[in-house]
Amino acid sequence: MPRYHLTTFGCQMNAHDSERMRGLLASLGYDEAPERDAADLIVFNTCTIRGSADERFMGNLGEARRIKRENPDVVVAVGGCWAQSQKEDVFRDFPFVDIAFGPGEVNRLGELLARERIQAVGAFTFDGMFSGDLPSLRERPHQAWVQISVGCNCVCSYCIVPSVRGRESSRPWQAVLDEVAAQAADGVVEVTLLGQNVNSYGRDLPAGDRRTFAELLAAVAEVPGIARVRYTSPHPKDIRDDVIAVHRDVPEVCRHIHLPAQSGSSRVLKAMRRTYDRERYLALVGRIRDAVPDIALTTDLIVGFPGESDDDFADTLSLVREAGYDGAYTFVYSPRPGTEAGKQMSDDVPPEVKSHRISALIETVQHTARQRLSRHVGTVQDVLVEGPSRTDATRLSGRTTHNVTVNFTGEAPAGAIVPVRIVRSTSTTLAGDMAQVPEPAGAA
Ligand code: SAH
Ligand code: SF4
Ligand code: F3S
Repeated sequence: MPRYHLTTFGCQMNAHDSERMRGLLASLGYDEAPERDAADLIVFNTCTIRGSADERFMGNLGEARRIKRENPDVVVAVGGCWAQSQKEDVFRDFPFVDIAFGPGEVNRLGELLARERIQAVGAFTFDGMFSGDLPSLRERPHQAWVQISVGCNCVCSYCIVPSVRGRESSRPWQAVLDEVAAQAADGVVEVTLLGQNVNSYGRDLPAGDRRTFAELLAAVAEVPGIARVRYTSPHPKDIRDDVIAVHRDVPEVCRHIHLPAQSGSSRVLKAMRRTYDRERYLALVGRIRDAVPDIALTTDLIVGFPGESDDDFADTLSLVREAGYDGAYTFVYSPRPGTEAGKQMSDDVPPEVKSHRISALIETVQHTARQRLSRHVGTVQDVLVEGPSRTDATRLSGRTTHNVTVNFTGEAPAGAIVPVRIVRSTSTTLAGDMAQVPEPAGAA
């Protein structure tokens, strides 16, 4: 059997696309190789969101070049967002690359590899553009990603995603529900709906078949066997009260929203073309907290955007405290080719200022998150067991509805949801002990 080795970079969309690549390759008769050196086919699923992503990938690609030099029969395939950003230049600049394909062309990996094989297998048609429709090999047996849309219609001035992932397109609602039902039948209890801007889901669907994101969320939560529903990411401009109401009213919909703010300065938000200002963002946070007081909010923040002053940055720090985030991903601005900011704005915040700001931001996020997470100490939380803890194999690890990792003592199979008494907290994790389980009343 031929063997492949796949390396994935970037966000959950890529992680999910990689599950599809695995499923596709398995169905074409490929086995997974333990190391890159041992593979007949080397695949990269790339990211190009920041310059650092490109650099990390270049190191890996260099190794593939070395392997291919030693064994010219090895096939090198490069997919994902970086590949899309380079187009035909991939083959000019990296002549040892055999196959290149963008994130909307995961199916082409199979097609390109299987040209002659496909008649023999005969099992595939390659007409869908949603990688979500391809066979999948899931990373985790009880948790699944579900693609609900591809692409992004926003024009955030710093962001390369729209140019590499294309226009937004919603997956038909029935296809989403069918996939979730099939996953549930296969043991999945938690699904995460994926899209670059999940809240605009459905707007491009034909009128008769149109559902809003809130309707989709509620419908997914009703699929028998699905105990938890998550999603990422919403755009703050598109979160309506109907979505907030679903969080309040539907217990399967998790008590967590990842709400990327990017900056706390209205001036910077405007230059970023985020289409909300600080006040509107905080008003949204207020509406969410009024409806679902215990909800966890997390965010993405960028420091060092062109023109960001000390005052702008101070606004980001105060936003972290006012919004009360349970966690945040923090990034240093990186100019991207082809973006509005990359082309028209000078990257004028000096490196040492950026580095000082990111440290200060991380410290503030940690401080706020530590305070927030400490509210769970003394409570009993339902935890979805993921398996043994990575740091201590005698303990179990899982996550709460707030998406916080809990390491705890006790015995329970992966996929079970068990009560855990929380005894300690840090800025990112909780620790506890499995609580007495009352006898289940009827079927679980
Ligand atoms: N669609 C998602 C974000 C995808 S990119 C959303 O809007 O929520 C993930 C994060 O990377 C963004 O939220 C942003 O914080 C960060 N990011 C995007 N482009 C960047 C750039 N040029 N420099 C630094 N960070 C960037
Ligand atoms: Fe990028 Fe903005 Fe689209 Fe997110 S919403 S993918 S940050 S353009
Ligand atoms: Fe994701 Fe990176 Fe592409 S963050 S959408 S894999 S550029």
